[in-house]
Amino acid sequence: MSNLLIELKGSTQIITINRPDKLNALNKATIQELSETITASGKNDSIKSIVITGSGEKAFVAGADISEFNTFSTEEAHELAKNGQDILFDLVEKCNKPVIAAVNGFALGGGLELAMSCHMRVASSNARVGLPEVSLGVIPGYGGTQRLAQLAGKGKAFELIFTASMMKADEALKCGLVNHVVEQNELMNKCFEICEKMSKNSSVSIAAAIRAVNSGYKDGENGFKTEINEFANCFATGDFKEGTNAFIEKRKANFPNN
Ligand code: COA
Repeated sequence: MSNLLIELKGSTQIITINRPDKLNALNKATIQELSETITASGKNDSIKSIVITGSGEKAFVAGADISEFNTFSTEEAHELAKNGQDILFDLVEKCNKPVIAAVNGFALGGGLELAMSCHMRVASSNARVGLPEVSLGVIPGYGGTQRLAQLAGKGKAFELIFTASMMKADEALKCGLVNHVVEQNELMNKCFEICEKMSKNSSVSIAAAIRAVNSGYKDGENGFKTEINEFANCFATGDFKEGTNAFIEKRKANFPNN
């Protein structure tokens, strides 16, 4: 049985993690399914954006499934973190289509790490986010130490990780960890509003922008140089010709690749 519910609304794919009785905790099977679904979505031209959320009103994802790894050896733990980062968390970050996390409740541990891998986060006002791993005698393993510091700053990251506490949605907004906070019944609408705006723009350019922004956070890469190359490559696309011509001709662009 699948752990995901998948729906297409216009050009937005909604992926709902569906283990509500376990607060949508990420077990191995769910991570694998998410990986396969997002890989397929990246190749599907009718999908322009992806929204990931959790089922029910209580949790986005309450973490990695603790019951699956509490007896692991060091080697198994290494494989768990490496494989998870490779097949899901890095994959989401590198996705060629914008991915929004609709954080509808608890986003803890692997749940916050999944939300932070997404390009944007919209939270409902009841959301609570945190990286409580040190309360379990471990540290975040799905990129949390890195992405939290990138998004909220090093000081906030240290505080949230060391105290294992949960941050309320409005505080997460203040420190830049989430983009917007809305009432829970408005959460999906807010995400669709952003998707609708993005869908009017060139999907080829958006994919280039994702690569350029990500490049600055990669070891051995220079984001400014990547930006120059990605900028130049846009000039060879039909989208660039259409976008600039449409501006000059005072009409709306009809991007050939959309
Ligand atoms: N892994 C596995 N199961 C989890 C889970 C996780 N990360 N988070 C919640 N669950 C399960 C609980 O074991 C419980 O299952 P059960 O009914 O079979 O006993 C069910 O989800 C409901 O959780 P419960 O703890 O009863 O809900 P609550 O409202 O009392 O508390 C939380 C909610 C989120 C505060 C609490 O579930 C929690 O602390 N979860 C773990 C968070 C965490 O440490 N995540 C990082 C993991 S590395």
